[in-house]
Amino acid sequence: MNRKLPEQPTKHSVLTDMFARTISYLRLSLTDRCNLRCMYCVTEDEKDGHLVKLGQGEMLTYEELLRVVRVAVEMGISKLRLTGGEPLVRHNIMHFIDNLAAIDGLDDIRITTNGVLLEKYGLGLIDAGVTKVNISLDTLKRERFVEITGVDCFDQVWRGIETALAVGFSPVKLNMVVMRNINDDELLDFARMSQEMPLQVRFIEFMPIGTSTRWNTDTYITSDEIMQRFTSLGELLPLERRQADGPARVFKLGSDARGTMGFISPISHHFCDRCNRLRLTSEGRLRSCLLHDEETDLKSVLRAGCSDADIKTTLLAAIRNKPKGHEMAQRLKEQGGDCHGRMSRIGG
Ligand code: 5AD
Ligand code: SF4
Repeated sequence: MNRKLPEQPTKHSVLTDMFARTISYLRLSLTDRCNLRCMYCVTEDEKDGHLVKLGQGEMLTYEELLRVVRVAVEMGISKLRLTGGEPLVRHNIMHFIDNLAAIDGLDDIRITTNGVLLEKYGLGLIDAGVTKVNISLDTLKRERFVEITGVDCFDQVWRGIETALAVGFSPVKLNMVVMRNINDDELLDFARMSQEMPLQVRFIEFMPIGTSTRWNTDTYITSDEIMQRFTSLGELLPLERRQADGPARVFKLGSDARGTMGFISPISHHFCDRCNRLRLTSEGRLRSCLLHDEETDLKSVLRAGCSDADIKTTLLAAIRNKPKGHEMAQRLKEQGGDCHGRMSRIGG
């Protein structure tokens, strides 16, 4: 289905929080289910292969999600990202995305995926109007991919990346969570990939989220250290910050590079003062900060037969409670603390 342009310019309000930040970006975790089991995502209680997942009735239905998005767009949300778990494993996903794309005033829908199903759905996503994709990829080695994700499907993901480029996603971003002694020996290979392919390769600082068994101060590497490692490859040329870059600091590795490199430093250079995000978890809870555990239960409101005005009130309450920022770096120094939500329900 092709995107519908609004017949007339629509006038939307602006949502601001207590710290004068404009909230315009909603991240929807569509499911906590996934076809991979990444080592940093599987939690302590799931380690022995017993996955703790939400039941069907616990997740918001597509009708509920569409309603929330419609109201949020009326309030000033203009950008949406579909996350998971793995969003593409949810039943009938393309039908949902078609309906989402028809919402008046929603002109920017993006997706974060592990790429496993991108070969199958890439073209359909483009046709529906989803033109920006982030693909998680932590290694270029087939055997290591199995160690990190628990599943032997590197080739399939690579074909997903090729499909994303071939069908015209722009930009295509690759997310590498950098972990010392796990994949940091591949940093130069990922950097070279940003020279050779029209991709944005993003190096993400590993965050202590959930009961992740792998995070510790030894596995964590700062963006500054990552950048240091690239000095042997050439000059990192900073690019002007654009809205589409989100929290990433973006560079080109030499003027001839076909792609770019993004550095995302939630811990060492947090970007809370520019944060424009609100998250809806797969169990229907509004989360105003990735790294704070406070959530607002929107599902109960929806299931109590609420009006659109009640949804607005609940969204406003969540935004009003958005904390100024997180002090993760300080907390880690003092007590090694983490936050407890599950990444697969929050959606990153
Ligand atoms: N730290 C940093 N990034 C993470 N992701 C998942 N867990 C973590 C973590 N603990 C990344 C995934 C995905 C994105 C949504 O978040 O790799 O690309
Ligand atoms: Fe799946 Fe993403 Fe979690 Fe990996 S990090 S198991 S791809 S939800």
